Amino acid sequence: MMWLTRRYFSRLRRKGTGLDLSTLSKLPEDALLPLRRDGLDPLPELGELRDREPVSRLPVPGMTVWLVSGYDAARQVLGDARAFSNDFAHLIGRNGVDEHHEPGGLGFCDPPDHTHLRRLLTPEFTMRRLSRLTPRIHAIVEERLAALSDAAAPDGTVDFIEHFAMPVPALVICELLGVPYEERDAFQRFSVARFDVLGGVGASFGAITESRNYLRGVIEQQRRDPGDGLLGMLVREHGDKVTDEELTGLADGVLTGGLETTASMLGLGTLIMLQDRAHLTALRDAPDPAAVATPFVDELLRHLTVVQTAFPRFAREDVEIGGVPMSEGDIVIVSLSAADRDPRLGPAMDTFDPSRPPSSPHLAFGYGIHRCVGAELGRMELREAFPQLVRRFPEMRLAVEPRDLAFRKVSIVYGVDTLPVRLH
Ligand code: HEM
Repeated sequence: MMWLTRRYFSRLRRKGTGLDLSTLSKLPEDALLPLRRDGLDPLPELGELRDREPVSRLPVPGMTVWLVSGYDAARQVLGDARAFSNDFAHLIGRNGVDEHHEPGGLGFCDPPDHTHLRRLLTPEFTMRRLSRLTPRIHAIVEERLAALSDAAAPDGTVDFIEHFAMPVPALVICELLGVPYEERDAFQRFSVARFDVLGGVGASFGAITESRNYLRGVIEQQRRDPGDGLLGMLVREHGDKVTDEELTGLADGVLTGGLETTASMLGLGTLIMLQDRAHLTALRDAPDPAAVATPFVDELLRHLTVVQTAFPRFAREDVEIGGVPMSEGDIVIVSLSAADRDPRLGPAMDTFDPSRPPSSPHLAFGYGIHRCVGAELGRMELREAFPQLVRRFPEMRLAVEPRDLAFRKVSIVYGVDTLPVRLH
């Protein structure tokens, strides 16, 4: 459930800051405000705070932590990689000494390391390269819809997260990385197991090691026989300059960035349609599904903003944000979910409205140099999945009462751990 958070804190531990996950559980309730929700919506208190004080102090004992919840202030922080660092090592003055950066840590490093690592990835994420995945994504969605139906009990009940929302992005990442077909069942099993969606907190540490070992095997296989995916491309073009460890980190980073996020969007997006069937009908009956799916998906991304906060940033120097002075070393948490509902973006931003006119771009994928490298791929998956889903199962309903849904309590990536639905 708190996979990303845990990964983050385990990095901190390795960097020797002395912080660990237990710090999070000891935080005062108010400090967890940006990670709490009521069903699909951020807490009303967060919106009130944003409107009153878009840059405010979070009550964290012994540290100065700022919560940036206003849209303009959020862009200012995310867009200024000179004043704000993603690398905790700056805090303790050991940058680059204690850890060899790997691409998995893209979100945790600054230029020039970041520039170098990101350049390795970007060629595979251009529209031209991504378009090779379009027919594959279509087929994966189709196959997983059939599998969803096969997994359903005789009364049509099935867990949408386990049988659709997780496998679709896992298999798309297989395509992206170039994992051979005969390996895909295993890849999917390992990658899903590492997110403790089903396994609970204890299960996940073992699962992370296991899946990293598994990824290492995939890398060795790609060294021997480079395929036409991202890993094969890196082996061919940078083979002697990039180590197996770096490649493993990269595959791991893509998995971290692309699996849980997209799965959450699929799960919560489906929930929105099941709770207000007018959205489902509009998508199902559209004569041109692509034309409807595009604004639908972008409004879903904004409204849900499943990555609730950006990775923490650290002020590298004294700086002023939204008129508030910050000091070198201060920690800054940007609440993407609050910023994306800022009234500054338009009227009634708390409502989901796919027909709203386009306004300033939302921050669901972040902004600036760390903006999501997989944004277009994520969009492609969602635009393919929702229209196919509502056409295949137009009668789909929630199989539990909305109040019985298992929303995550405190998690950077918001979501439901299970979503029982009845397909017919
Ligand atoms: C709809 C699904 C997705 C959402 C909502 C999402 C959201 C985000 C956000 C908000 C960030 C920036 C965090 C920050 O600045 O602190 C980010 C970064 C990142 N994402 Fe995504 N993401 C999604 C899909 C993907 C996919 C499909 C991939 C890869 C296959 C991916 C890979 C990454 C990576 C590697 C980064 C780090 C980029 C950097 O630091 O330069 N994401 N994502």
